[in-house]
Amino acid sequence: MADKSFFLKGSNHLDWGMQSRLSRIFNPETGRSVMLAFDHGFIMGPTTGVERIDQSIVPLIPYADCLMCTRGILRSMIPPSCNKPVCMRSDAGSSILTKLNNNVVIDIEDAVRLNVSAMAVMVAVGDPDFEAQTVANLTEAVDAGQAAGIPIMGVTAVGKDMVRDARYFGLASRICAENGANIVKTYYTEGFEKVVSCCPVPIVIAGGKKLPEKEALELAYNAIQCGASGVDMGRNVFQSEAPTAMIQAVSAVVHKGMNPNDAFQLYNDLKASRS
Ligand code: 5RP
Repeated sequence: MADKSFFLKGSNHLDWGMQSRLSRIFNPETGRSVMLAFDHGFIMGPTTGVERIDQSIVPLIPYADCLMCTRGILRSMIPPSCNKPVCMRSDAGSSILTKLNNNVVIDIEDAVRLNVSAMAVMVAVGDPDFEAQTVANLTEAVDAGQAAGIPIMGVTAVGKDMVRDARYFGLASRICAENGANIVKTYYTEGFEKVVSCCPVPIVIAGGKKLPEKEALELAYNAIQCGASGVDMGRNVFQSEAPTAMIQAVSAVVHKGMNPNDAFQLYNDLKASRS
């Protein structure tokens, strides 16, 4: 059996506890992860697909490698017995009614109490008003995370005025990693190989707004081909016509490298059989 102790990019210098948590998130067999993101309500409120977490999200839990949500939803809706690693959304301070203003980071003690496997903190690179505050949030979380053995995910924000290209996502991802993030969440774009190769820690991609299923599977496939370590996908799963089928198709792309045509066929087969 291969030595899997240092399987993850950028993790060989980390303490055992940190590596242990990372290996709960990223499957040690593939080094990849399907993270199911349903933290949208912390900014958007009960947006489509997350109105009733008990009905729309809880049935998907068995198919996810990791759950990405806020502590409020974790405590109120997610059965602790599901035994899935959690990446807790740990910044706060914005809503869709205000301009971006994330200025609070959840206390590490609560993350420890909740036994989370990572904490996610957003960074607004290039935002003249909030870049400094959000980078400070990240470094605060990294300091606390290092002390507690909890990995920190840097979440690259996309401001309305930012160009969504490889140069921007490469810059934002690298800034997160340079400031100590152990995982980076960003967006797929043309030229993504360079974003990944210049980032010293694993990158997962958000899915973004709902796309037709085949396109979402192509997005995941392209990101994996470019070296991404997985997806942190929400709306393209829970707003799908068949969310259970969709998350299984995404998982086949991420862990087996299934091509988008086959994955779409798998989605349709599972949808037809209602699995
Ligand atoms: C919401 C988030 C989401 O976690 C992230 O955008 C992934 O979800 P989606 O695939 O729907 O974009 O940060 O604030």
